[in-house]
Amino acid sequence: MAIHGGVAFVLLFAGFSASVTGKCSFENCGHYDNSSYVVHIVPHSHMDLGWLKTVQQYFYGTNAGENNIAVKLIYDSVVSELLTDVNKRFIFVETGFFELWWNHSSDASRESFRKLLNNGQIEFISGGYVMNDEAATYYTNTIDQMTLGLGILRKTFGECGVSRVGWQIDPFGHSREFASLLSQMNFDGLFLGRIDYQDKNAREESGTMEFYWRASESLPKSRLTGVVLANNYSPPPGFCFDIYCNDDPLVEDKESEEYNLPGRIEKLMEWIGTRAPFFATNNFLITMGNDFNYHSAHKWMSNIDILIRYVNTRKDLKINGLPVRFEYSTPSCYLKAIRGAKLASKADDFFPYSSDPHAFWTGYFTSRPAFKYLDRFANNLFQAAKQLAAMAGLGGGRLSGLSRALAVDQHHDAITGTAKQFVNDAYTRSTLKGFNEARDVIAEAFVSLSRNDAGPIVFCKSLNVSECDEIDGMLRNGGITVNAYNPSSQLVRTFLRIPTTDGEEAFSVTFCPYRRVLFALPERSGKATHEIVFPIEIGAHAFESVSIKPKKTSWASEFPSEVEVPTYRRLRPGKREFVERRGDTELRIHPTRGLVRMTMNGVTINATAGYYYYESHAGDNHDFGHRASGAYIFRPNVSSPVPLPITSQEIIKGKTVTEIHNTYTDWLSDVIRMTGDGKVEVEWVIGPIPVADKVGKEIIWRMDTDIDSGSEFFTDSNGRETLKRTRDSRPTWDVSLEEPVAGNYYPVNTRIAIRDKDAETTVLTDRSVGGSSLRSGQIEIMLHRRCLFDDAFGVGEALNEPGYDGEGLRIRGTHTIVVQTPDEFDARSASINLALKPIVVFSKEPLETSQSRINVTTLPDIVQLLSFEQLAENEFLVRLENKLERRAGAGTVTVDFPALFNDRIENVKETFLAANIDRPSRTGAIRSVRLYPMEIRTFLVTLK
Ligand SMILES: *[C@@H]1O[C@H](CO)[C@@H](O)[C@H](O)[C@H]1NC(C)=O
Ligand SMILES: *[C@@H]1O[C@H](CO)[C@@H](O)[C@H](O)[C@H]1NC(C)=O
Ligand SMILES: *[C@@H]1O[C@H](CO)[C@@H](O)[C@H](O)[C@H]1NC(C)=O
Ligand SMILES: *[C@@H]1O[C@H](CO)[C@@H](O)[C@H](O)[C@H]1NC(C)=O
Ligand SMILES: *[C@@H]1O[C@H](CO)[C@@H](O)[C@H](O)[C@H]1NC(C)=O
Ligand SMILES: [Zn+2]
Repeated sequence: MAIHGGVAFVLLFAGFSASVTGKCSFENCGHYDNSSYVVHIVPHSHMDLGWLKTVQQYFYGTNAGENNIAVKLIYDSVVSELLTDVNKRFIFVETGFFELWWNHSSDASRESFRKLLNNGQIEFISGGYVMNDEAATYYTNTIDQMTLGLGILRKTFGECGVSRVGWQIDPFGHSREFASLLSQMNFDGLFLGRIDYQDKNAREESGTMEFYWRASESLPKSRLTGVVLANNYSPPPGFCFDIYCNDDPLVEDKESEEYNLPGRIEKLMEWIGTRAPFFATNNFLITMGNDFNYHSAHKWMSNIDILIRYVNTRKDLKINGLPVRFEYSTPSCYLKAIRGAKLASKADDFFPYSSDPHAFWTGYFTSRPAFKYLDRFANNLFQAAKQLAAMAGLGGGRLSGLSRALAVDQHHDAITGTAKQFVNDAYTRSTLKGFNEARDVIAEAFVSLSRNDAGPIVFCKSLNVSECDEIDGMLRNGGITVNAYNPSSQLVRTFLRIPTTDGEEAFSVTFCPYRRVLFALPERSGKATHEIVFPIEIGAHAFESVSIKPKKTSWASEFPSEVEVPTYRRLRPGKREFVERRGDTELRIHPTRGLVRMTMNGVTINATAGYYYYESHAGDNHDFGHRASGAYIFRPNVSSPVPLPITSQEIIKGKTVTEIHNTYTDWLSDVIRMTGDGKVEVEWVIGPIPVADKVGKEIIWRMDTDIDSGSEFFTDSNGRETLKRTRDSRPTWDVSLEEPVAGNYYPVNTRIAIRDKDAETTVLTDRSVGGSSLRSGQIEIMLHRRCLFDDAFGVGEALNEPGYDGEGLRIRGTHTIVVQTPDEFDARSASINLALKPIVVFSKEPLETSQSRINVTTLPDIVQLLSFEQLAENEFLVRLENKLERRAGAGTVTVDFPALFNDRIENVKETFLAANIDRPSRTGAIRSVRLYPMEIRTFLVTLK
């Protein structure tokens, strides 16, 4: 029996390759000429990795009270339905759910799936771990989540598993950078669901639903075909055949009283016919599916079968004068069919997105600001941990939990802040679990890379609330060493701040007393009252250690000579303005108006800065005039925000830093901080936002300068290239704005700037926010929001975060202000340094750490070692990025690749950006690697 079974299996296997086309789905397309009008029927199911339920609940079907969706059963149902008929096809999109299904499936189910993929019935489209958001995602997170998803597909299925086409059918607006990244992954097209309704109308009128997207000003090759879907991702009206839909099934039995085909088909033809002119060719794509559809794939597909069978016999049905042909298809086949068509081009992005005159999806740029910071910080830890693990040679697969948690965080209901509160709590939990994995890897790497035994490695886990009980005892008991690793490819000069319970009596290095507001943070349990502040300078991918000893011992000798020993004094705020100068920077601060003037890098501007709130629009959403501000939507109820003036001020002046502590209300305070090197940052603590008056509030920080910026401002796209924004205007259509504030908000991932001929001001953020410039000379960024109404786009909850103690979320964060002559400031490099801050660990004795796997002196200044990750024993994933844009004057640089790895390369091959496809033409003897402005090149390297 056993032997027999074995033989049968081999035969069956042989049978697969003999009986089927043997083509991947994207090669298994129909024949397209102009002899018929082709309607591409694309069955799909949109599966969010968390939204109204958690990922696990959606997968298993638990929390059935919310809904009884079980992704596991969707996969099972689709697989068994496709096995019945080789003509049926289906696309899967989110690899995160696929991986869960695969891990929980029998060998027989896996074999069936493999067969369906290899014979062209199943195709993975996009193939990222999730369908990522495009506004609040930082580009390295996006690259990583695509690499994870496509890597799983490539490893499991080989070439047929690797997607070629993007499928962003639900994200709330589309960035140019994501299109550019896809293009660098060798994708040749991208399908979009949601675009601004006015843009869509204009595209329909001009027949430009397909377009040629020039997705980078710096990279001439970042080009792909964009396609806007006819009906988001839903089926045509009346043609939803899911078990959750109420549309009648199709009946083809002419004898039956229920026979309904002619009437139904007539409506469908009319629907397609009116839309055919919106598209460039004789092809039309119909999305047959919706959120979590295909629990019963048979119900869906038996109806599609009837539809196709019937239409293809009706030779009289014509569109564009051609007979109509319906067929099972995929997005790649549609792209193949329209190849060569003349398309209008587009060079901007699809932000902001509005779905009606009062629904600007610009609130989510800021929604859940604590989670947005957690994500940025987790990425910082993740990138550094990967680098350290690779340098120490800890082996591959060490950060699989954090990599998956971070990938899921990029989902368009996660980082956006548009999932239910308990779902967001689950995202936070798995991210924090990933932190432990990263800390273990970092500690192990530090130990392995150091020549001495310095005792256990200790982390401060709550630096964001300025406490570190972990080191307090050590500090007082003979002192401690601060060891820092710099994950950026640039030398950094920064200040480290270490919490302590003692004042200046105990440590001569102690400097800043905390503001009282910090003590009120509910997550604080420690007793730190001060922080030790000291400057530190760390080379690219290098280590630095500083010892802190109690005063009684000889601390001074432990310090590198360049470390100043700071002291501070409190200055009483006076009636007059306070002027402080450090280096080239001068700030003029008014006791009640705050900042009034600043000089930096030789440029002086009059500038005030402060906090305001917009009252959120209330409403029951019964029509769009009653739209409420909520998790997705920003809808202030008046256009001028309410100012929050300074109520008290304290000035603290030390040797290395000056701080102006301002209190505005009992729930909002900040510190304007100027460090010895002339950097200016603003650190704020906001919350709980008061809502006892039953009015939601959205808090902004705004700077008013005399820069003559007119209606122009600049925002970054996912932390990479800069886009010019023009107030009250869109580059490709005449916009009419009924929401003058929300309609001018754009995603600010890392930076926003204004300029005139003499001056430029840039604000760099520590997380993604929304921002705008509503008047000449202004920059505003939205920091926090608390809304009391749901905005009726599905989440079913108001964005009213409880925070740690249930009183309302408190957040703390920092932004940096730079004034400079136009085009002089390298904001890109500065933003990379903020995203890749030094990683700090503590030990009793100094760690004598160094690494020898890479020689960073071989990297030109404008190159970032974007990825350095160990995949297996001697295998590494390496990415190099030219950081600067062509418009910032960058040129081509070359990297001596063998020298970067100390001439220990055994083998190297180049791949596309997500390590998804090899680039044989560019492999071979890779010596000097040329990088054009903004170019990222990806390599798989075997080291000796
Ligand atoms: C089909 O017709 C369109 C419009 O007339 C034309 O642009 C296109 O090249 C034709 N395609 C083929 C495959 O003949
Ligand atoms: C699936 O299984 C693989 C291999 O055992 C494992 O590495 C991965 O973490 C699992 N994924 C999930 C989501 O459980
Ligand atoms: C700033 O404002 C003052 C008084 O309002 C004015 O005299 C001065 O010229 C302004 N400075 C700049 C740089 O515009
Ligand atoms: C501090 O970080 C923790 C997670 O480590 C987070 O839950 C908390 O909200 C953060 N607190 C503040 C004030 O940012
Ligand atoms: C690192 O590279 C530089 C420049 O190529 C070279 O001078 C130096 O000797 C290298 N260092 C090591 C340790 O190999
Ligand atoms: Zn979705």
